[in-house]
Amino acid sequence: MEIGGHGAIVAGGASGLGAATARALAKAGAKVAVLDVNMDVAREIASETGGAAVECDVTSPEGAEAAIEAAAEAVGPARILVNCAGIGPAERIVGRKGPQPLDHYARCININVIGSFNMMRLVAHRMTALDPLDDDGERGLIVNTSSVAAYDGQVGQAAYSSSKGAIASLTLPAARELARFGIRVVAIAPGVFETPMLRGLLQPAQEALERATPFPPRLGKPEEYASFVLSILGNKMLNGEVVRLDGALRLAHE
Ligand SMILES: NC(=O)c1ccc[n+]([C@@H]2O[C@H](COP(=O)([O-])OP(=O)(O)OC[C@H]3O[C@@H](n4cnc5c(N)ncnc54)[C@H](O)[C@@H]3O)[C@@H](O)[C@H]2O)c1
Repeated sequence: MEIGGHGAIVAGGASGLGAATARALAKAGAKVAVLDVNMDVAREIASETGGAAVECDVTSPEGAEAAIEAAAEAVGPARILVNCAGIGPAERIVGRKGPQPLDHYARCININVIGSFNMMRLVAHRMTALDPLDDDGERGLIVNTSSVAAYDGQVGQAAYSSSKGAIASLTLPAARELARFGIRVVAIAPGVFETPMLRGLLQPAQEALERATPFPPRLGKPEEYASFVLSILGNKMLNGEVVRLDGALRLAHE
């Protein structure tokens, strides 16, 4: 898809992978709305990229609808949605204090899965009303963020891995269903990227992850995730697929 001038929404765009994506999309000519719960930083990214910052909790049906409407008013209707809002909790199913509290598991599923689905359903509905952009009938692109933890989940990642597995499994049925509207759905499964989420890890754990990445033997840069979003935009045949972006990393059991 030609990016120039189109509206884009980056959910979770105030930090990490989302912020880098907002910058890359804006540089490529899109008009970007940064949707996030963290408004202080969202405003900074929006002013840097010449876009709009809109407060949005992706898990709220009414809140997300209102935020998408505000984004459309500010930057135009979204032809691109990149779902980067997420949390990365680590907790054992049975820990020293007993079983993992069910609400901890539910919170992870709520933000990572239901939040992404909520954004996808609302933005896709609006995209169906837009004119096709070309002879193929393309109307838009939705990129969801899975993780290599969907496949190689480690000890302590039961909630996170199952949330990212759901995002991976959502990709094909969503792409198949939205195909008749010319909307593509692709998921990226990043390895370990240098973002605030990852900086929460202890230094030895971070170094171990770098050593476990065959090439390049380092953490991924958020700009590398963002540039892959642009590659997906540029290649219409990429659809209904989950692509690992991980330097051939396969996570060990813990
Ligand atoms: N960093 C990595 O190595 C890595 C690897 C694999 C997958 N991921 C996934 O990529 C996505 C982005 O991760 P990141 O590393 O950039 O994290 P991050 O913590 O830097 O950014 C996440 C953003 O999501 C926002 N957010 C959280 N809950 C929200 C909600 N309910 N509504 C709206 N916004 C909300 C936060 O405010 C933050 O700005 C996440 O889904 C994460 O699971 C990250």
